[in-house]
Amino acid sequence: MTRGSSLNEAAHVPTVCLIGGSGFVGRHVANLLCTQGVALRIPTRRRELAKSELIVLPNTEVIEANIDDAEVLARLVAGCEAVVNLVGILHEKSKGDFRRVHAELPRKIVDACRTKGVPRLVHVSALNAAHDASSEYLRSKAAGEQQIRAAQPSGVQTTIFRPSVIFGRDDAFLNLFARLARLSPVIPLGCPNARFQPIYVDDVARAIATCLGKPQTFARTFELCGPKTYRLQELVSYACSIRGLRRLIIPLSPGMTQLQAFFLEHLPGKLMTRDNVRSMQVDSVCGCAFPEALGFDPSAMEAVAPLYLAKNAQASRLNRYRIRANR
Ligand SMILES: NC(=O)c1ccc[n+]([C@@H]2O[C@H](COP(=O)([O-])OP(=O)(O)OC[C@H]3O[C@@H](n4cnc5c(N)ncnc54)[C@H](OP(=O)(O)O)[C@@H]3O)[C@@H](O)[C@H]2O)c1
Repeated sequence: MTRGSSLNEAAHVPTVCLIGGSGFVGRHVANLLCTQGVALRIPTRRRELAKSELIVLPNTEVIEANIDDAEVLARLVAGCEAVVNLVGILHEKSKGDFRRVHAELPRKIVDACRTKGVPRLVHVSALNAAHDASSEYLRSKAAGEQQIRAAQPSGVQTTIFRPSVIFGRDDAFLNLFARLARLSPVIPLGCPNARFQPIYVDDVARAIATCLGKPQTFARTFELCGPKTYRLQELVSYACSIRGLRRLIIPLSPGMTQLQAFFLEHLPGKLMTRDNVRSMQVDSVCGCAFPEALGFDPSAMEAVAPLYLAKNAQASRLNRYRIRANR
């Protein structure tokens, strides 16, 4: 298999159902698959919110649907050559949401694929997913992986990806740090020593598109990480420096981190929860090199992040001027 041959291979998959395709990663996957001539079916809970970026894509149906309903799900995947599941949450709104979204939904997707004879299922999990993890997020992700693997013997070819934290133009990661830095000259930072190996969103999209037609990725689980490891404090200070902001970052002790998370999880938007803190107790770094089967190397954060962080800063400055000028 030669490097860069993935585009042609993906073109062999005429229709793909992208579940969670309206999200951050999903929009990048959708864009990439469209350039490869793939037709897309993208369910969403709120079409009005999802449609702006997606309906302009050729051969793309954005469908308002309740994917928890088995019959609806079966109709969505019927006739597709592949299903990609990108649905995930970082916080629960109600108790049990992690299980419902990360484990029960994958079971329903597997059932729908089996019933409708869909031959290919790609699932995005998370690095460090484990049944014995201390965070419910990671335990529920492991339960979801188990559901996906159970599909393999019944003829659905599966691939699971476990990314570290994902960065890119519209990420909720470096952009969030940059926004917080704008609000305050001092940043009290929980889990300052948590380690991450961020992966570029276009590389995750490329991994998904590439694997669709690659038999050597069937029945396999791949960890996805970028080329370099960083401590959380380094990432925050990096985002500040790209925005040209000198900020005092105060690393919090484990006790203060818990306290901060306790308060933040009770505020709207849940910037951080105690479950997030538990998930960061394990380094989000890959134990192996980037998967050779995918045929490309991941991009360095320093080569990509300055382009969009600086641009986003300029856009928000212009917005502020517009608001001030009443335009
Ligand atoms: N971003 C990261 O840094 C990162 C890191 C590791 C793993 N992952 C995993 O990668 C996948 C994609 O992440 P992402 O960042 O693209 O997520 P995202 O932007 O939050 O998008 C998630 C998608 O899931 C759908 N969704 C969320 N909650 C749902 C629910 N209760 N029922 C039905 N649909 C729901 C949303 O669709 P609608 O609102 O349109 O219905 C949305 O399109 C997820 O599985 C995530 O856990 C992400």
